[in-house]
Amino acid sequence: MEQLSVNHLLGIKYLKEADVQLIFETADRFKEVINRPIKKVPSLRDITIANLFFENSTRTKLSFELAEKRLSADVINFSASQSSVNKGETLIDTVKNILAMKVDVVVMRHPNPGAALFLSKNVDACIINAGDGTHEHPSQALLDAYSIKEKLGDLRGKKIAIVGDILHSRVALSNIFALKMLGAEVMLCGPKSLIPKYHEALGVSVSTDLMKTLKWCDAANMLRVQSERMDLNYFPSTREYAQLYGLNAKKLMSLKKDIILLHPGPINRGVEITSDVADSKNAIILDQVENGVAIRMAIIYLLVAKLNIPST
Ligand code: NCD
Repeated sequence: MEQLSVNHLLGIKYLKEADVQLIFETADRFKEVINRPIKKVPSLRDITIANLFFENSTRTKLSFELAEKRLSADVINFSASQSSVNKGETLIDTVKNILAMKVDVVVMRHPNPGAALFLSKNVDACIINAGDGTHEHPSQALLDAYSIKEKLGDLRGKKIAIVGDILHSRVALSNIFALKMLGAEVMLCGPKSLIPKYHEALGVSVSTDLMKTLKWCDAANMLRVQSERMDLNYFPSTREYAQLYGLNAKKLMSLKKDIILLHPGPINRGVEITSDVADSKNAIILDQVENGVAIRMAIIYLLVAKLNIPST
């Protein structure tokens, strides 16, 4: 069987193109499984997975949990707000205690960039990064690229825009790495204050003009304004942001061409995208959610194959 080149999924940065292609091919098979009347396979019957969420999440947590259950793994869930983390326990202590219960895989979301890498060096389990602060969110980038490919075909030469709050977005960085690796051209668009200078070194172009960007692209990923991470005022008002960088039906119609629209969720309807656009035929937001389960099944399945667990 073909194998991944990595033992953990810490970021897209650590993957090779062959890894991404293998994840996509495996996800194709799992997508077929989850559309059958019996949506489950027994592949991970002997495996225990802990979902550790030190930061809020709705869809990523549900998506990972569903992927694990569709693979027949045993699943335990942990949310920081209900845990001993609030009593002063360190991350390594928390995780070592969980691993003492014989856990094979840890899926972790954490507010600190680098938390997943740190854990992979300090505990003996396979680590999957479900978002580490403003750094990476690899499973989201994989499901985004997979969803674009499903609609537009091979990504080589495709023009993809990432619009909005690039500065605070782990989705943006992982998307840049994944899309560039697959041969797409990437343009970032947003207010200057929300586009970090160092991103240009990643081989992407930058624009502050939404209409110009949309006219250029085949697909646009409309990112959420991450107000919870903003310690300063990065733009004068939400109303002004929506006027300059929000997408509404009038702007979409005036392009006179079809582009596809992605959003990682949760949507701030009326800020980055209006309701009619979010619910339009251009938006592939619900395809992203469906593909997310298949992509996460593929990631977990392929990483478990590298664990060398004796079969019973
Ligand atoms: C993203 C995240 O948490 O980084 N959402 C997600 O994973 N579904 C994007 C966001 O919060 O805006």
